[in-house]
Amino acid sequence: MSTREPVNAVILAAGKGTRMRSDLPKVLHPLAGRPMLLHVLATLTPLSPARQVVVIAKGAAEVAAAVSPVQTLVQDPPLGTGHALMSAMVALDGAAGTVLVLFGDCPLMTEATLMRLVAAREGGAAVAVLGFRPEDPAQYGRLVCDSTGALLRIVEFKDAGESERAIGLCNGGVMALAAAHLPALIAKLDNKNAQGEYYLTDLVAHARAAGLSCAVVEGTADEVLGVNSRAELAAAEAIVQDRMRTRAMEEGATLIDPQSIYFSHDTKLGRDVTIGPNVVFGPGVSVADRVTIKPFCHIEGAAIETGAIIGPFARLRPGASVGENAHVGNFVELKNTRLDAGAKANHLTYLGDATVGPGANIGAGTITCNYDGFDKFKTDIGAGAFIGSNSALVAPVRIGSGAYIGSGSVVTDDVPDDALALGRGRQVERAGWAAAFRARKRAEREKKRG
Ligand code: UD1
Ligand code: MG
Repeated sequence: MSTREPVNAVILAAGKGTRMRSDLPKVLHPLAGRPMLLHVLATLTPLSPARQVVVIAKGAAEVAAAVSPVQTLVQDPPLGTGHALMSAMVALDGAAGTVLVLFGDCPLMTEATLMRLVAAREGGAAVAVLGFRPEDPAQYGRLVCDSTGALLRIVEFKDAGESERAIGLCNGGVMALAAAHLPALIAKLDNKNAQGEYYLTDLVAHARAAGLSCAVVEGTADEVLGVNSRAELAAAEAIVQDRMRTRAMEEGATLIDPQSIYFSHDTKLGRDVTIGPNVVFGPGVSVADRVTIKPFCHIEGAAIETGAIIGPFARLRPGASVGENAHVGNFVELKNTRLDAGAKANHLTYLGDATVGPGANIGAGTITCNYDGFDKFKTDIGAGAFIGSNSALVAPVRIGSGAYIGSGSVVTDDVPDDALALGRGRQVERAGWAAAFRARKRAEREKKRG
């Protein structure tokens, strides 16, 4: 999406996040497998920001590393949201167009709403504020408007009188500011208020005093949800998951029980994919058209090609690659393994560091022994090979194309194409032994009873 003027973004993330009770900085807690701060940056991407800066606390090296190469500036000490924006001004010197100010702990903002804010700013407002009407306005800042709906000022809850606290329209936190007016307006901020902080929100009153106009763009409560605690993190995760489920269905996937399917922020689904209940996607999964994923699968770092059937109860770990129309059945685990087109591993199998040729059949209970406690080794299984049930393939080992492995084999040497390999104890038979055994035992028992 393009705007007429440049868009710049400042993301405030210098807050302490003490209520998370965590060693991890709050803004790095993940939603759908990605730090919430990176959700904010991802939402900004389609706006192609000319400049982007994240304001972080002193010592927040982890945060700086997570957003790299996006610029970070340190706010030390944190003296309020307005002061945080002041700390970012060095990065905005000479900036034109709009400066969007966002909060790093509000990861649910949508691109559409940001575009509306930018449009309001470009339409003539020096400050455009995201307003919303929460069920419980609680501690949010209140938007004070005149009778025509024009924004006059924002009053923080702690500074608000009774009539102002009765206002239902609240400040969602995001603002679009005219870059040209920002240096003059920010110079007017002070900390003479109930909290002794420099309030970002005071920019509105200063703009009005300078004869500039201010606007409100209304958004939904979902979008402005701030994450301050683990409970709010879970609430945000639920919203993110719901959005991804809706999008998956809009794009042509069937989700049999959407609420029980969990996506990663980067899950890619083709058309006519069907996903059964209780399927969890970790990061890095792509699923091509017409794939069926049956219930209770856990899939991460995997590519699944057209028409493949996965599960129920399959686990695909990083590096799993399932070819066209291949099958991965129940209690089968794949790690760093390529299953070529039409190959099948249908029951109770572990394939690690392996390649399986097209049309090969991996019998129930086959295990690649890929690890000796120190190093990992490869197993290569040729096209059309047939691995009998309960075989252990001790890597490094190669099974030729079209070869057969007898059930229960422990295969330690390479097997040539089209050969049969047996690596198991020979069967021994004693005719009539069982009948004689039973007769002896019964006689012993009779004797005891007398
Ligand atoms: C702010 C708004 C309030 C609004 C609410 C919406 C102000 C003065 N108040 O209040 O009107 O209803 O958000 O959620 O802006 N931060 C810094 N440095 C600081 C202080 C904060 O970077 O010195 C960052 C925090 O990390 C956070 C964001 O700014 O990402 C918001 O700070 P927070 O303390 O949560 O503001 P609120 O008091 O909730
Ligand atoms: Mg807050």
